[in-house]
Amino acid sequence: MANNAKMKIVVLVSGRGTNLQAIIDAQQTKTIASRIIMVISNKENVAALDRAEKANIPFQVITSKGKSKDVYNKELLKSLQTLNPDLIVLAGYMKILPSSVINCFPNKIINIHPSLLPSFPGLKAQQQALDFGVKITGCTVHFVDEGCDTGPIILQEYEKVHNNDSQKSLSLRLLKKEHAALVQAIQLIENNKVILQDRKTLLREEP
Ligand code: GAR
Repeated sequence: MANNAKMKIVVLVSGRGTNLQAIIDAQQTKTIASRIIMVISNKENVAALDRAEKANIPFQVITSKGKSKDVYNKELLKSLQTLNPDLIVLAGYMKILPSSVINCFPNKIINIHPSLLPSFPGLKAQQQALDFGVKITGCTVHFVDEGCDTGPIILQEYEKVHNNDSQKSLSLRLLKKEHAALVQAIQLIENNKVILQDRKTLLREEP
């Protein structure tokens, strides 16, 4: 069986970067064997870039602002092809990847989403959960396909919704689960424990 350990990872971000930080921490503590070779942000001056810089991880800004979708997506694809990563992690990346990128990296792109998919895809998932009145929500790590948060699910973690939760309080509790789930998903992938069968994944249980 091929071993994916020490994958080259590219992380795509758009903002604060706490999920990026969780991967950086896991790399530094050797919780994961893989390493981040580049952080790419579609926005300038975001905290995620400061986190990359502080950890001595190369970063690029490929700004989406003021460009057509087509031009932006071509620039992103070109950069990803040059970097040739084994895994692309969407960590708070707030754009939809085009099929050109997805087809170029089949089953090599994962995303962290703050709900129990398929409930509450898209933006403001935590607020969607509160508005709907669910008692349990959570987070999902999944492979990225051409839909919006529709790809095969790798891992999910649940979180209870409290009576007095605000978007902020719920998001903060979820974030802790997100960080752990994202790192665990990378561990599973680098240890070849994620088997993709059509739209489902099976997690290999033996060591
Ligand atoms: C996280 O909650 C992540 O799950 C969410 O944005 C936040 C980014 O935080 N992503 C999405 O909603 C994607 N649809 P971070 O920048 O601190 O990692």
